[in-house]
Amino acid sequence: MYRDRIRMKSLWNKVVEAEEAAALIKDGMIVGMSGFTPAGEAKVVPLALAERAKREPLKITLMTGASLGSDVDRMLTEAKALSRRLPFQGDPTLRAAINRGEVMFIDQHLSETVELLRSRQLGPIDVAVIEVIGITEDGGLIPSTSIGNSATFAILAETLIIELNLTQPPVLEGMHDVYIPSRRPHRTPIPVMSPDSRVGLPYIPIDPSRIKAIVITHKADRSSTVLPPDDDTRAIAGHLTELFKYEISKGRLTQTLGPLQAGIGTIANSVLHGLIDTPFHNLKMYSEVLQDSTFDLFDAGKLDFASGSSMTLSTTRHEYVLKEISRYKNRLILRPQEISNHPEVIRRLGVIGINTALEADIYGNINSTHVQGSQMMNGIGGSGDFARNAYMSVFVTKSMAISGAISCIVPMVTHVDHTEHDVDILATECGLADLRGLAPRERAKVITENCVHPTYRDLMRDYLKEAAKGSGHTPHVLEEAFAWHTRFTATGSMRGWAGLL
Ligand code: COA
Repeated sequence: MYRDRIRMKSLWNKVVEAEEAAALIKDGMIVGMSGFTPAGEAKVVPLALAERAKREPLKITLMTGASLGSDVDRMLTEAKALSRRLPFQGDPTLRAAINRGEVMFIDQHLSETVELLRSRQLGPIDVAVIEVIGITEDGGLIPSTSIGNSATFAILAETLIIELNLTQPPVLEGMHDVYIPSRRPHRTPIPVMSPDSRVGLPYIPIDPSRIKAIVITHKADRSSTVLPPDDDTRAIAGHLTELFKYEISKGRLTQTLGPLQAGIGTIANSVLHGLIDTPFHNLKMYSEVLQDSTFDLFDAGKLDFASGSSMTLSTTRHEYVLKEISRYKNRLILRPQEISNHPEVIRRLGVIGINTALEADIYGNINSTHVQGSQMMNGIGGSGDFARNAYMSVFVTKSMAISGAISCIVPMVTHVDHTEHDVDILATECGLADLRGLAPRERAKVITENCVHPTYRDLMRDYLKEAAKGSGHTPHVLEEAFAWHTRFTATGSMRGWAGLL
């Protein structure tokens, strides 16, 4: 059956077992693997590699598009097969190893990895392991549910291992748009003129003589773990709806808004879902990850087109969407992540970027990655690509975490991913702070009064009052700036006493 999918017949004799393919990966190599969130990752070769690493010294640098499904990061971490990992992850076992300092994690803007590889500032890639749904007559690789960095990994790698996944529907063919920018400094402009522009090939063009092994797999993508909308995320979506209506009344947006981007995770997914019950229509997305909300908006007749780099769906949505993919296919494009996240394209198309903060401070600086300043969560992902370049950069977060023991708005963030200069709007379930055109002292008031939960609002007002006694463009009381965090460490609550609020 797999032979129908390998249309270049001379490659039929490359089909081997996963263990044989994994043997091409040696200790110390740099390996690029497909995969972007639980979508389109190589699923069996990495696990065979993990098994080998339990028996012999074997450590690799692993680059991917973003996080992986199928327990790949967990198994490689448990086998101690990872020395270095980039540019993003989301696995609890790997996260713990990173935070113990055992795996060196390079937290990178997702648009940048392949630029650094192409200019030889990183790499070279020794082996690429890429999941495909098929191989064309000329040896071109047809990706599956994500593209991520697969195209450039496959083009640059010395050796190619292909995982042909027979559970991924062949009807995905034609949904991808593989455009690889030319080399700098003579690069021509990327011709994406709107989210639905097709500018490349529906497959990854490679030299097929570098394909050394093809492994047949039957493992489906794992579903994502996003939770359904709740009262808080519905409230955040409500505040954004009011903002967009205001922008329309001022003539700065129309009912179709701008191309939308929404970050990963439960909150951004729920906020986007909230657009179903709004007057906005004929929406388009120019985003990175297409989650359940994209398909909810399609089904509600609100969304005309979505461009992304991967499709990551929950258990309930996953089976349905893949079964019905031909219904959605002509309204979807999957692009390499350097194009979906390209700063110049994002700026030119006027994308409205909606990303999630772990914590924000009263001046609008955002921490999306480090719990209590030190513990890595997932990584910056593409949020910086979008936030810096968006037409309007929105950050959302619930005002409190861990049943109120943590205020997600703090006097000073303990790690900065996005500076105040990249944040136009901050919204929590309590309200929305429109920071455009405001100086830091003004921002602090608007954020405190609109975004901080009432439980913490007086504490924040007290902090601001103290800070304002000093001088400075951005007033702070340095001795107190992290007191909320140290109180949490000492007592289990930023309020200074443990227990539910
Ligand atoms: N301090 C400590 N923990 C916090 C916290 C804070 N200030 N704010 C949230 N958390 C915890 C939550 O309690 C939750 O923990 P749990 O998984 O044990 O329940 C976890 O962080 C995730 O928070 P949740 O409220 O479920 O949000 P989410 O699923 O929307 O994820 C991010 C939020 C920030 C982790 C996620 O969006 C992310 O990794 N962002 C960075 C990358 C990015 O933005 N990429 C998109 C570009 S397209």
